[in-house]
Amino acid sequence: MEVRMKSVLVTGGGRGLGRGVAERLAASGHRVLLTSRNAEEGERAVHEIRREHASVSVEWALLDLASNASIRSFVRELPSHRHFDVVMHVAGVLQQSPTRRMTVDGIEETLAVNALAPFLLTHELRNRIGSPRGPGRVVCVSSQLHRPGSRGPEVHFDFEDPNLEHGYDPDVAYKNSKLAMLWFAFELARRTPRSRFTVHGMCPGFVPETAAHSVHGMRRLLMRYLLPHLPFATRARDAVVAMEYVAVEPELDHSTAGFWVNRELALASRDARDAELGKRFWRWAEQATGAVWLLPDRPQFAER
Ligand SMILES: NC(=O)c1ccc[n+]([C@@H]2O[C@H](COP(=O)([O-])OP(=O)(O)OC[C@H]3O[C@@H](n4cnc5c(N)ncnc54)[C@H](OP(=O)(O)O)[C@@H]3O)[C@@H](O)[C@H]2O)c1
Repeated sequence: MEVRMKSVLVTGGGRGLGRGVAERLAASGHRVLLTSRNAEEGERAVHEIRREHASVSVEWALLDLASNASIRSFVRELPSHRHFDVVMHVAGVLQQSPTRRMTVDGIEETLAVNALAPFLLTHELRNRIGSPRGPGRVVCVSSQLHRPGSRGPEVHFDFEDPNLEHGYDPDVAYKNSKLAMLWFAFELARRTPRSRFTVHGMCPGFVPETAAHSVHGMRRLLMRYLLPHLPFATRARDAVVAMEYVAVEPELDHSTAGFWVNRELALASRDARDAELGKRFWRWAEQATGAVWLLPDRPQFAER
């Protein structure tokens, strides 16, 4: 099916998979706004993409997803006419340090960046997603690690202790955040008519080339140069193709709340699909961000 050229927002577009999918979308003719919390990185990404591909439409903007104020000011400073056909929540953190880090807003950093920031950013952008030309799309880059039984310590989201005050483990924080991101995605899908926008979660696969950035020393070398060649790994270039598919494939306008792995529809974990847990996370996220959506527990938007 023919893909109409879209206006796309990509968070975490300064490097890694965000940078990769921003480049691929721009090269395919889409209009891309990538965000980075680092001005040098954002500028470099745009410069390199423009150098590689003639007459592409790509810009960058500063956005620190660990700060609610930064998210609000990013949206406030967008031109009033700016709409997005696609919003891609790609930025994410996987901490290595056993010391818990808190954001300026008092939230554990992994949960804040990976799950609360997509919640707040989507809330602030809610009237700018989609257009009369067609429904919009929100893409949440989660991970297969949201599943119970995935490698490493067990996912365990405790609503009494979301910030892991009583026992912090960076891997648990990551898994919890990726589960929470799917709670957000699926609850948003339940609240939004498809004529406004659809919402899809995805996992890009295990991509050692970009995940290497989070580790150091010998592990980084292994991840960068050896692991990408092993059969269980996904090459960054393939992950980016799968991300582009979930972002702009027209077929996906006919469904919502999908969880995509390798361009195939997969079943997210039972907890991720649990509507009661999704609503509970939503209420907690509203309190934590101060972003109260209209009509709680009911569709947010009229049909277009
Ligand atoms: N690679 C994998 O194997 C894998 C597997 C499953 C899911 N994922 C998910 O895929 C997404 C991309 O991962 P990746 O492999 O490309 O990781 P990456 O190379 O580490 O990139 C992470 C991106 O997130 C940005 N970011 C981190 N904290 C931020 C903040 N506070 N504000 C704004 N941006 C921030 C980083 O920007 P800075 O340069 O400023 O740090 C960077 O652009 C993540 O959500 C990750 O969880 C990855």
